Amino acid sequence: MQEIEEPMDTPSQDPRAAARRAWPRYEAAELGFRHYWYPVLAARQLKQKPVSLVVCGEKIVLVRDRGAVRALKDRCPHRGVPLSAGRREFPGTLSCLYHGWTFDLASGELIQALTDGPDSPVCGNPEVCVKTYPVIQKANLIWIYIGDGPPPPAETDIPETLLADDAVVEAVVERRKGNWRYAMENACDEAHAKYLHRYTPYYFFFRFPGWQTDARVAPSEDGKWLNRSSKPVFEKVHYPGLGSWPRGEFWRWLRRKPIKGSSRLPGVFAVDHHTWHDFQFFVPVDKEHHLTLQVSMTRAKGLKKALWKIRYWLFIRTLHHWLLNSREDGFIVENMDAPPEWLFRPDISIVGWRRWCEQKARRSPSDGEPISQANLHSGGAVADVVSS
Ligand code: FES
Ligand SMILES: [Fe+2]
Repeated sequence: MQEIEEPMDTPSQDPRAAARRAWPRYEAAELGFRHYWYPVLAARQLKQKPVSLVVCGEKIVLVRDRGAVRALKDRCPHRGVPLSAGRREFPGTLSCLYHGWTFDLASGELIQALTDGPDSPVCGNPEVCVKTYPVIQKANLIWIYIGDGPPPPAETDIPETLLADDAVVEAVVERRKGNWRYAMENACDEAHAKYLHRYTPYYFFFRFPGWQTDARVAPSEDGKWLNRSSKPVFEKVHYPGLGSWPRGEFWRWLRRKPIKGSSRLPGVFAVDHHTWHDFQFFVPVDKEHHLTLQVSMTRAKGLKKALWKIRYWLFIRTLHHWLLNSREDGFIVENMDAPPEWLFRPDISIVGWRRWCEQKARRSPSDGEPISQANLHSGGAVADVVSS
């Protein structure tokens, strides 16, 4: 068992000072880590009509154009009006609603300023170009690269399982209150499910542990994931001064195989439910909001695929995603007020995640460390991340 030795603050001190000392990069990442591909929409949510989003503090307009997906900064350089309010006047372009400046969706170039005539001298000036973002549709999701310089292949940041030929992927996308780190830490949190989700309908009839011993975090063999593990204790135990707990629970007659949770940068939590996989992507919006993408997938074809879809729409989407994740976890994430904080043994899962980010998050080329294969994934002293 790894001891948690991080400094703890009392409310009278600067509540963030200890966090800044312990994990300065993580603490500074209010708007997330840059140089990653982030999923932002389910593919079916993006059509011809522009969609406006904020990702890692950047206002972006997304649009589908003749089969391709395009992403531009959501700001017209003329007078700062959001391009997402604009019109799709000509193929391959987006016209600003205010004065009709018309931009090429692929390059962001100003092609015509409609209300200044076809010979408008403002066109062709590279300084009035709108920034474009690398964007791609994969695994039934739309992914945007937030970072400087040329991006790595999107597959670098997409969990491999989602890319399988027979992957059946369903997603729920929600904008939620709370910084993305609260949401990710809640997902990593080893102990919370045993109490917070104790009576949730999805697991109501299942045998449920009360606590755990030997909570650990360790990197996966390929260095991409930080795996969480512990030994669940199902038996009723005596708590001195209180009595026995958990009490009764005679209705829990179903058993299930233990499930494994794993975390990955820039903010992904995956649970292997054996017959299906649950991925939660926490995408920073601004300091107080994030997107949660709850992505469920299985590998199936034909009848098996149809049956899994029924199970998904009847149980997984309603009881697991809406009730358990959105309502129960969502309440916690929206109402957290930390630091200051006072951690206990199971929080090794949270401490491990913070250390992982501190050491493994990609750095900007301007930090003097260009993005290379070496810091895309693994490499380096991965084991040190959780043992230091
Ligand atoms: S503000 Fe966009 S065209 Fe004028
Ligand atoms: Fe939870």
